[in-house]
Amino acid sequence: MTDIGRRRFVQGALGTTAFLALPGRVVARPQAAGAAGSLPDRYPPIFARFPHLLHGGDWNPDQWRDEPGILEQDFALMEKAGCNTFSVGIFAWAALEPEEGRFEMGWLDDVMNGLAKRGFHAFLATPSGAKPRWMSEKYEEVRRIDAQGRRELHGSRHNHCFTSPVYREKVRTINARLAERYKGHPALSGWHISNEYSGACYCTYCLAAFRAWLKTRHPSLDALNRAYWAAFWAQKFQSWEQIDPREAPMDGLQLDWDRFVTHQTVDFMKNEVAPLKAATPDVPVTTNMMTFFGGLDYWRFAEVCDRMAWDAYPQLYGDWRVAASLSMAHDFYRTMKGGLPFLLMESTPSNTNWQPTPRLKRPGQHRQEMLLAVGHGADATMYFQWRKSRGAFEKMHGAVVDHEGSDRTRVFQDVAAHGALLRKLDAVVGTTVRPEVAIVNDWESRWALGLTQGPRQGQGGWDGRFDKEYIRTLTEHYRPFWKLGIGVDVIESLSSFDRYKLVVAPMLFMLKPGVVERLLAWVKRGGTLVLTYLSGIVDETNIVFRGGWPGGGLREAAGIWAEEIDSLLATDTDQRIVAAAGNPIGLAGEHPVREYCERVHPEGASVLATFKNDFYAGMPALTVNRHGAGRLYYLAARPAEEAFHDGFARGLVRELALTRNLDVELPEGVTVQKRAGGGRIFLFLHNFAPREQALDLGGLRLVDVADGTVLTGRVTLPAYASRVVEKA
Ligand code: GLA
Ligand code: GLA
Repeated sequence: MTDIGRRRFVQGALGTTAFLALPGRVVARPQAAGAAGSLPDRYPPIFARFPHLLHGGDWNPDQWRDEPGILEQDFALMEKAGCNTFSVGIFAWAALEPEEGRFEMGWLDDVMNGLAKRGFHAFLATPSGAKPRWMSEKYEEVRRIDAQGRRELHGSRHNHCFTSPVYREKVRTINARLAERYKGHPALSGWHISNEYSGACYCTYCLAAFRAWLKTRHPSLDALNRAYWAAFWAQKFQSWEQIDPREAPMDGLQLDWDRFVTHQTVDFMKNEVAPLKAATPDVPVTTNMMTFFGGLDYWRFAEVCDRMAWDAYPQLYGDWRVAASLSMAHDFYRTMKGGLPFLLMESTPSNTNWQPTPRLKRPGQHRQEMLLAVGHGADATMYFQWRKSRGAFEKMHGAVVDHEGSDRTRVFQDVAAHGALLRKLDAVVGTTVRPEVAIVNDWESRWALGLTQGPRQGQGGWDGRFDKEYIRTLTEHYRPFWKLGIGVDVIESLSSFDRYKLVVAPMLFMLKPGVVERLLAWVKRGGTLVLTYLSGIVDETNIVFRGGWPGGGLREAAGIWAEEIDSLLATDTDQRIVAAAGNPIGLAGEHPVREYCERVHPEGASVLATFKNDFYAGMPALTVNRHGAGRLYYLAARPAEEAFHDGFARGLVRELALTRNLDVELPEGVTVQKRAGGGRIFLFLHNFAPREQALDLGGLRLVDVADGTVLTGRVTLPAYASRVVEKA
């Protein structure tokens, strides 16, 4: 879809003047705009005629064509493993088209027929993630130009130009071939588009496309110069052709480049999907993503994916805090399509060879990691990979089938046990999570903050760029809800806020057009908004608001003015947030802070806590202001410890009477998730601690879905135990 097409789509789908649509911008997300009442109670299964949870993974039979008998062994083992779905052909282009225009698909026929014969499903991949060598040699334009202007070598994968007309044509051709050959094939159930899109290219095609895209965002060169504050250091552009994202230390330009890279990658994906949808309109498409990868604004992919899917390689190692971060990512993938169950497309059944310390999963941990995903709304738990390769980069990466080759390994048994459990969870399929709390994860705001020099330097982040700890900060605000067993959606600033009681928007540095209006309208109707330091600083071009922070209209509504921001040294450990006596949210004690403290003046807001030390001792550190029927909280410093976040969140939970998934005290490391739909409510109970812990359920009776055990009274959960239960 072109930008103009997309604009129409946004307007048409919303049919309301509440959402502005400006050239080249998405101003509100149609799929998130529905009111609570219009959301489905239960969604269809991922594959229409297969009402079960998916289980399986990446399978690369193209690597095993020289090893006789492996295919048959694989099929036999798949049945034993309780698997049903496999992603095939992901990196198989050289096997599918060994020479230009000569296609060899017989081997894939055997694979697809073998799957179909056993009632298995294929996520058939488009092979664009790794181009064949002949192509790199004959058409050098398919290879990227790097930021230094050098043409890259063929090597590796995920390194093709997204704009090259030749590459797009070659991808369309092979995708069309696959679609034509396998349309109607009983094994073809989904399309796995490419693999982990990432990176950028600076070739003449890409730069020309960038300039053309810039013209859709900036009505004139003058407007662009203004948006980039180009008078600074004599940087004004006199022609569009002068614009090169690599040369100028111009954060507005770099921000637009980041947006363009997303736009162009989505456009590349649309080019991939078109021939598939033409031949197989009913086969769902997805692409596998990487947690909160900084290089692409994942929100923009929701429009092209029928389902969201991601690859999770957490380093859990018995640390419940990592589990909480993992949970936040699952919540994000569910929220991107408004609660539609997503796929855990890759995870390791054992260790992950590229990590610094590829620790083995302890007994119980595999089942736990998988059930955590399901509890957050995954209708698929899949692995990388099915069979461990004998050579190359991933020969030591965990797999379901090890080099030993049998079903006798511990890992295989764990996978098979999980497969057997999934078969008992058919009623979970299509159920979802409908939280009262949302946290804002906005890529463009994250980029704008990262690209801004100051107010202090970041701690490092993706791609060597300073990331200013955006995701970590979100995690710190998210964790207390996880500990209390309270569901959270992970939205963006363009999402609808309507269905939430509480929205937490840490460091919402950038305010895009319309966001403040929508936020405040929602607060006025009764919503509670939490803002923090570094909020409302710039508009969508990364230009600072005049008139005091938080800008864009938030200052008046929050009833505070943040005059300046202090940057703490690592040795500045004595600054504290001190709770005001008798504050209505029950925050108690003193809490150390790190890195950021703002000097805030109350302009109508009530002060809930103040700074303890230095020249701003006594000034507000936490405030609240009424706005219509709702409230805005403002946190003026970055807390150094969990206790502050816990106390603050507990106060909000009490004040807003937020519902916990299970109304009992949860020991540290224990959490409860909830999926509901079709008149049933499933609770996922986890103990992430490496030791046994106990819960007091009182008179509550919970029935284990897997074995019918009734849990009541004092219940112990062994280390890494997870149970799926229903209220009796
Ligand atoms: C140098 C330059 C100035 C300005 C300051 C900022 O001194 O001469 O133009 O960039 O750094 O600290
Ligand atoms: C990524 C890729 C896979 C594989 C795994 C290994 O997720 O998509 O192809 O390389 O990493 O962990």
